[in-house]
Amino acid sequence: MASCGGLVSTVLWAIFLIQVIETGHSKASTNVTCIGAEREALLKFKYGLTDPWRRLKSWTGEECCKWEGVECNNKTGHVLKLDLHNPCIEQTNGMFLGGKIVPSLTELKYLKYLDLSVNNFSTQKIPMFFASLRKLEYLNLSNACFDGHIPRQLNNLSKLQYLDLSKAYDSGYLTSYNLDWLSKSSSLKYLHMSFVDLSKAKDWFGSINMLSSLQSLELSNCGLQDVPSSLQANFTSLRFLDIGSNYINSSIPQWIYNLSKLEHIDLSSNFFKEGRFPMAIIENNQRLSFFDASANSLQGEFPKNMSSFCKLQVVQLYHNSLNGNISVILDGPLGCRQSKWKIFDVSWNKFSGDLSNQFGDFKELELLDLSSNLISGSIPANLGELTSLRRLYLEDNKLTGTIPESIGQLSNLKDLRLWNNFLHGVISELHFENLKSLTILDFSSNQLILNVSSTWVPPFQVGELDLSDCKVGPKFPKWLQTQRNITELIMSNASITDDIPDWLWDVNISFMDISSNLLRGQVPKDIGDKMPRLTELKLEGNNLTGGIPSSLCKLNLYEINLSKNQLFGKLPQCLGASQMLTILSFGDNKLYGQIPKSLCHFRTLGMLSLRGNGFTGEIPNCLSNMPLMEFLDLSDNEFTGRLVPFGPRTPYLIVINLEKNRFVGGIPPQYCQLKFLQFLSLAQNNISGPIPNCFDGMMSMGTSQIYGIALLYFCTIDLSANMLDGQIPKEFTKLVRLENLNLSQNKLSGYIPSNIGALKNLESLDLSRNKLSGTIPSSISSIDFLSHLNLSFNRLYGPIPSSDHLRTVDDESVYRGNDGLCGAPLLNICPGDEPPSSDGRDGDNSNGDKPSEGDLNIRNWFYAGLGPGFTVGFLGFCSVLHFKGSWRISYFRAMDKAIEKFLMMTMIAMLWFKRTFRQREKELV
Ligand SMILES: *[C@@H]1O[C@H](CO)[C@@H](O)[C@H](O)[C@H]1NC(C)=O
Ligand SMILES: *[C@@H]1O[C@H](CO)[C@@H](O)[C@H](O)[C@H]1NC(C)=O
Ligand SMILES: *[C@@H]1O[C@H](CO)[C@@H](O)[C@H](O)[C@H]1NC(C)=O
Ligand SMILES: *[C@@H]1O[C@H](CO)[C@@H](O)[C@H](O)[C@H]1NC(C)=O
Ligand SMILES: *[C@@H]1O[C@H](CO)[C@@H](O)[C@H](O)[C@H]1NC(C)=O
Ligand SMILES: *[C@@H]1O[C@H](CO)[C@@H](O)[C@H](O)[C@H]1NC(C)=O
Ligand SMILES: *[C@@H]1O[C@H](CO)[C@@H](O)[C@H](O)[C@H]1NC(C)=O
Repeated sequence: MASCGGLVSTVLWAIFLIQVIETGHSKASTNVTCIGAEREALLKFKYGLTDPWRRLKSWTGEECCKWEGVECNNKTGHVLKLDLHNPCIEQTNGMFLGGKIVPSLTELKYLKYLDLSVNNFSTQKIPMFFASLRKLEYLNLSNACFDGHIPRQLNNLSKLQYLDLSKAYDSGYLTSYNLDWLSKSSSLKYLHMSFVDLSKAKDWFGSINMLSSLQSLELSNCGLQDVPSSLQANFTSLRFLDIGSNYINSSIPQWIYNLSKLEHIDLSSNFFKEGRFPMAIIENNQRLSFFDASANSLQGEFPKNMSSFCKLQVVQLYHNSLNGNISVILDGPLGCRQSKWKIFDVSWNKFSGDLSNQFGDFKELELLDLSSNLISGSIPANLGELTSLRRLYLEDNKLTGTIPESIGQLSNLKDLRLWNNFLHGVISELHFENLKSLTILDFSSNQLILNVSSTWVPPFQVGELDLSDCKVGPKFPKWLQTQRNITELIMSNASITDDIPDWLWDVNISFMDISSNLLRGQVPKDIGDKMPRLTELKLEGNNLTGGIPSSLCKLNLYEINLSKNQLFGKLPQCLGASQMLTILSFGDNKLYGQIPKSLCHFRTLGMLSLRGNGFTGEIPNCLSNMPLMEFLDLSDNEFTGRLVPFGPRTPYLIVINLEKNRFVGGIPPQYCQLKFLQFLSLAQNNISGPIPNCFDGMMSMGTSQIYGIALLYFCTIDLSANMLDGQIPKEFTKLVRLENLNLSQNKLSGYIPSNIGALKNLESLDLSRNKLSGTIPSSISSIDFLSHLNLSFNRLYGPIPSSDHLRTVDDESVYRGNDGLCGAPLLNICPGDEPPSSDGRDGDNSNGDKPSEGDLNIRNWFYAGLGPGFTVGFLGFCSVLHFKGSWRISYFRAMDKAIEKFLMMTMIAMLWFKRTFRQREKELV
């Protein structure tokens, strides 16, 4: 969970709440004396607990009705209420009670209200004896770290109206195999069980449907899978329904449509499928203010009358497949004088069309998120009428034109993201004077220009600034010096060709990306002292000189990318200090020396690239024990020694590139166990021995399934220019996703596997310069996409298979140097074949008709400029190879931001959680 917000504020807040509670008490309790037996029971209960914050220090003396958290009946003196909930919602902040709950509590026979929420009873299960508190109406054990099965005996609590067993992320692990123990609690109004594992409770709905008084049902993150569709719901008074973040894979069940008193409905993050927008839910529930169906599989267009539901405040539909014209939503007839919408988020859908002009009707809108759709046209000039707007996300669409001047009227704007559109214009001409709260500004990947004089001072103070792909340079922007609040600076590819100014290193920034400019200068030796907050440093693709300072080891970096510069020298020996480094890229510099063993201390490393330097020596074997490594590129150096046996201890490797080194020895058989490997290049080394037959290994080990699946991910194998011998394993043809196979310039013998045609996705096949014999299998001609083929300089014989497909590679050079081959496109005629007549079978395979270089379309097997390695894992590296040039780069940027956005969404969800937590707490007090 996120922090409670600074210790000081937490404590203040806690004190405030305690005071509220205390004053509340002195009012409520009158001069009744408490009953001795109950006092004794309370004291026993207290001694069972641990109370590091001394929250129960008032629990002394006779008057137990005045003890903190205790309330008695003002006539009889019986204890009615025991409220020991932790006033700080943050368990990590220590205000919690713990220890053991002793059965003396059952002496409180008249107890109606028991709240132990937000404490830490991690040592125990929910005590069964709670079941004998028969008068209980309110039981709140949420976030109290109880563990294990919920006792069925709770079914004795027939007067229960409120039951809260929900929890946050790591506060215990409650389960229940069914919910029939609830069915007797017919007065239950509130049932909150979020994060309780109900995945085995198949008929949860049947049990809950007996609770006809239910008003609030919270079952998010319960592992629910099934929900009956046709049934009528018994609980017709339901106002609050949250079944988000489950695994429900069906259409939205009918009973939800039939409810009519809903105010809050959360169906998000399930697999609800719907061909049409479920408008009836909104129409049937006239009091609905919160509607969240995001992250499902909803399709269809938006209904025209959406905006006329006057109570609606929050509409979240992100991550669906909704489509149609976006203007329908905001242009619809507004039935109410003014819309109450506060949050409107339809990002990650397929909306198209132009933006509406009706912004003026949405005066209360605080968050408008239309990002990652297909919206075109320009941003309407009346944008400024959204006077409450705090967050505006229009990024990743097809917006054109300039940014309207009225944006300067959005004086509450905190967060403005317009990246990845086609906007143009001059940023410095925008009037930002009133945007005093602006903290995040992202204009990247548009066609914007920042056209400033050397004395320009920006009228805003941002925390995060992204001007990538804007024209900011050629001078390094001096005005950055006036940005005192900046923590994230991203200005990659911003046409700056200048020296990095010294003052930049004095800005206490945590995230700096100024890559792909032609900046000159050095990374200062004392960067580790000057920028103590730095977590990400990206300076790739500049013209930096000097060495890699060892003071970097003082930083707790997450990513460091200094590749494609002119850096010189050895790697600092201290490398390995950071606890969370994920990406380390020093590729394409002039570094040399050995890899320090300390590098292996980066236990979280996902991507390591040292390619294109002058590193020597052996690779430390400990690199084969990097549990999270996905992407390893040490190519084009002077490494020697044997190959590191990557295998079970680097299970997530996707890319291994060790080409152009001086490795010797065989290919370690452990490679066969790399289940996710997609790209393997060992080309241009001195590797010898056979190609390991991973499939054979698996047969003998009887784990065919696992290995079979493993290798299916391969798309590129390049073992060329080594000294490999033996045969091409027949089972290679099982690598169905293989697109590039290069085994050329080795000493391979034997035949080309006869069913090589099974490699349906193969685009490039090079077996040249080996000792392969036999005939060319005719199945080769059935590979549809094969555009590059080289079989030259082997010992192949017999006729060249002819077919339409092979025509693209129908070049004499493909087959050259095999004395026994005959037939077109070679000039030797196969024995027994008729000499081709003047108008032969195929009119167009004449020798003069050579394919051009472009036709050969030899794939760049490389990932030049690839961004963070771990995103590759999501996409599938193979598909990444299809992206071209700069588009690929911006695609990665988009991926990057998608992740960022996802994190943000969870954060917003968490904040919401926190907020409601607090609100309800106050209501209770
Ligand atoms: C309660 O006790 C206080 C003194 O402690 C006294 O002033 C007050 O009148 C008493 N109230 C009743 C209802 O007895
Ligand atoms: C005593 O309790 C009753 C109900 O339980 C309530 O109506 C009344 O206001 C209480 N009196 C005082 C002085 O708190
Ligand atoms: C709860 O207490 C246990 C030990 O008593 C401890 O291990 C755990 O970290 C605590 N949980 C929280 C959330 O503080
Ligand atoms: C509705 O609830 C009542 C008890 O409150 C129960 O008898 C009845 O079976 C329930 N109906 C359905 C359809 O579950
Ligand atoms: C910038 O920082 C100052 C002082 O830290 C703070 O008062 C001000 O509110 C910040 N401005 C913004 C826009 O966050
Ligand atoms: C990088 O700097 C060197 C001098 O330090 C210069 O010769 C070279 O042209 C620069 N490269 C580019 C691409 O500007
Ligand atoms: C239970 O307690 C928590 C935290 O103290 C509170 O947020 C929640 O609203 C309570 N549940 C009910 C049903 O009152």
